[in-house]
Amino acid sequence: MKFADRLNRFGEEIFGALNVKKLALEKQGRKIYNMSIGTPDFVTPEHIREALAAAAKDPENWKYSLRDLPEMLDAVCAYYDRRFGVKILPEQIMSCYGTQEGVGHLAMALCNPGDIVLLPDPCYPVFQAGSLLAEAEPCYYPLNKENGFLPRVAEIPEDIAKKAKYIIVSLPSNPVGSIAEPHIYEEIVAWAKKYDVLVIHDNAYSDIIFDGNIGKSFLGTPGAMDVGVEFFSLSKSFNVTGARISFLIGRKDVIDAVKLLRSQIDFGMFLPIQKAAVAALTGSLDSVKEQCVEYQKRRDALCGGARKIGWNIPDARGSMFVWAPIPDSYTSSMQFCMDLLEKTGVLCTPGSSFGPHGEGYVRFALVLPPEKIEEALKAVKDSGILE
Ligand SMILES: Cc1ncc(COP(=O)(O)O)c(C=O)c1O
Repeated sequence: MKFADRLNRFGEEIFGALNVKKLALEKQGRKIYNMSIGTPDFVTPEHIREALAAAAKDPENWKYSLRDLPEMLDAVCAYYDRRFGVKILPEQIMSCYGTQEGVGHLAMALCNPGDIVLLPDPCYPVFQAGSLLAEAEPCYYPLNKENGFLPRVAEIPEDIAKKAKYIIVSLPSNPVGSIAEPHIYEEIVAWAKKYDVLVIHDNAYSDIIFDGNIGKSFLGTPGAMDVGVEFFSLSKSFNVTGARISFLIGRKDVIDAVKLLRSQIDFGMFLPIQKAAVAALTGSLDSVKEQCVEYQKRRDALCGGARKIGWNIPDARGSMFVWAPIPDSYTSSMQFCMDLLEKTGVLCTPGSSFGPHGEGYVRFALVLPPEKIEEALKAVKDSGILE
């Protein structure tokens, strides 16, 4: 059978080769320090699990939900006000099965084939996949050392800006670990107004931000509500990655367009999950704050520890990822990952898998406690791979 041409746009699973090597090493009894995938190892707070379990006992909650419960939409509004000081209305919100799914479908509601969309390079891979599913044309703006790993919209060529349908921005950033400086969102809003470009902000890590900085919502920027929408995932703040809970929030015409698309293929979020979302959004945020402190300890163990052994990894400023330059003796991040795994058991992700500007770097996920990170760094030092 000849399958859809669209599938040709998606490459082979790049993690395949690394995974084969990891399994082989595990079989030999080698110790693996897996810092490749961003699945948090922290526990989901009890009040959230209890809300889901209690709701699951009611047979009524096993029917099609067909809608976002008013109670959940109100909880999102109250949370945005409490946490970010941003006022939104229930009709400015749509739930989705995680930001991954939401971004994956978004371009189909917004773009015609050939429309230009602007994405960061390197970026979270579904930004690109979503645009390709809609047959839009991705153009990339770089996040690199020279620009402080931040979106500098003024540097986007004018002919591209004039044609672009939307721009995706995501800070704190996966994979590069940069955070929004105060003026960055203001510049983006002014630029978006000038060129009539929709801004899509992916707010996945506002609660994982270091050194006393406070994570914000893009929608809190004056004028942002006229030019933008924001994906707000509960996955990382509340360690509910498997429950698939995220919201698209902001400009109502955009929310309505995406709702129309999704209503063709979806009957609504499982009601017990909606109840769990309400519990997360209305409950105590102590665990969220404690966890951020733990992530910072891991960041310190990894970046600070690496610098002590002669590997100059700058501090990540936010997100659960560290962006590390590969040693000068390597030209390929994939090759470095393979050698690092072979020689030390440390598994990370090649930067090239996040886009061309990712070459020369690897990404570590902060999913191990500081003691394990220290052990992993000792293995790196002892292997001599940095020399
Ligand atoms: C930037 C970014 N956005 C979104 C997600 C996924 O969010 P969700 O679990 O809501 O699909 C991730 C997960 O790694 C991410 O790094």
